[in-house]
Amino acid sequence: MTRFYITTPIYYVNDAPHVGSAYTTVNADALARWHRLAGDEVKFLTGTDEHGQKMADVATKNGVSPQEWTDRTAPRFREAWDVLEISYDDFIRTTEPRHYETVQKFLSTIYENGFIYKDVYKGLYCVSCEDYYTLEASDDGRCPIHHSVLTQMEEENWFFQLSAFEDRLLEHYASHPEFVTPETKYNEALSFIKGGLKDISITRTSITWGVPVPWDERHVFYVWYDALINYLSAIGYGRDDDEVTEWWPHSNHLIGKEIIRFHCVWWPAMCMAAGLDPVHHVQVHGWLLIGGEKLGKTMAAEGAVKLTDIAPITLTEEFGVDPLRYYLLRETALGNDGEFSLEGIAARYNTDLANNLGNLVARVAAVVASKCDGVGPAPSADSTLREHAQNTTRAAAASWELFAPQRALESTWDLIGATNAYLETHAPWKMEPGQATDVVLGDALEAIRLVAILISPAMPGVAQEIWRRLGLSGSPSAAPFSASSVWGLYPGGLPVEKGEPLFPRIAIDS
Ligand code: MSP
Repeated sequence: MTRFYITTPIYYVNDAPHVGSAYTTVNADALARWHRLAGDEVKFLTGTDEHGQKMADVATKNGVSPQEWTDRTAPRFREAWDVLEISYDDFIRTTEPRHYETVQKFLSTIYENGFIYKDVYKGLYCVSCEDYYTLEASDDGRCPIHHSVLTQMEEENWFFQLSAFEDRLLEHYASHPEFVTPETKYNEALSFIKGGLKDISITRTSITWGVPVPWDERHVFYVWYDALINYLSAIGYGRDDDEVTEWWPHSNHLIGKEIIRFHCVWWPAMCMAAGLDPVHHVQVHGWLLIGGEKLGKTMAAEGAVKLTDIAPITLTEEFGVDPLRYYLLRETALGNDGEFSLEGIAARYNTDLANNLGNLVARVAAVVASKCDGVGPAPSADSTLREHAQNTTRAAAASWELFAPQRALESTWDLIGATNAYLETHAPWKMEPGQATDVVLGDALEAIRLVAILISPAMPGVAQEIWRRLGLSGSPSAAPFSASSVWGLYPGGLPVEKGEPLFPRIAIDS
């Protein structure tokens, strides 16, 4: 059995989750669900990043301790993910003892291996990024992402000797051309390494809210340094070596493009320094934008948009859970940026879901009711739809494997389109009940069965409802499925239910 370990970045808990964080999480969830469907053993990790200056500041502003603040806000992520049907296997908080234990063991190993030393750090700091900038990389002393004025910092810190790993990183990139996808992001990470690596400061004395440095308790680890290690804390690093051996070679991080340097340069070097192989694969995604700007918490703070109006839970109340998931997966391919809009969700809903998928299921059920007394016939072995179904299923499966949910859904909609066209051509509603009508409807039901399986990673609730309406028992995500031999498992003889419209159309104000 193949293993698949997928992670999201851990989210800062200075505020509630927004639709940008939902984008990462829903994509990771759909990929996890796909791999479970394909028979892999899956571990899907998400969680919250709770240390650092930003969290300490926001707690002070709210008159509570950082621990109280994070205890209050971390559950909001679980709540949102539960509403969005995120099927995580583990949720890690960086304030948990298991994380402290792993961080201290991992970094002590790097220290003992001689890659950590003491020096004085001077630099410009952005609290929102929890990151340093050189004056040249800044926007005239301001953060290039958040546009806030950078703070001048000077402290005695422990440093990680990142510069010692330049050659090994270059070798790793050369021998693992799919280490980072898409290729443009691989090239970006690579050119960063080629540009020369400076050692990085990894501890702080200016704050106390962090994981204590075991060999120097006046310091806490810099938040990014503790955060990255969460991926190992969750698989028992320092506690259960077998679990690490089982899962780490199958690890995949899904991350946003602004955190490439941490995940694709620092993190593999840290692993090398600790004597561990780097993460197996990093898939980078772009940003959801509003008016060309990254949609996010800081933007809300500046009053540019009311993020509460587009909070993930609010959007599910307006459009439904599965339509929101579908929009996030389908509209913006992993790797690209995409403009987010309510009109965009409504358009996808009306076109892809109501007109194409909903209409297909409804019209087939209606004709089965009128021509076959509501009992679904079996498909034929040599239908013209068969080849189309096999091709699109193979294409969808290949895209899911390649971390391309958007393309996988595009292929699935090709099958929906082909099935609608097949019905138009044969017009079973005009035919007399009998053998020929049964063949057309049986084929269409089989195609819908396959569609239900193929959409189940994206829209688990809708897939289950379609499955039920076809009279099938169990669940589409647990159906026997192999992308290479797909046609013909709808058994026929099952009651097909018409039901209410799956996607009542949304009125769009013009
Ligand atoms: N805490 C760090 C990650 C540490 S991982 C060891 C962090 N947190 S975050 O909450 O700011 O962002 C988490 C993820 O959400 C990132 O992958 C980021 O790209 C994603 N998104 C935040 N805003 C987003 C958009 N507007 N669009 C798409 N993804 C967005 O960084």
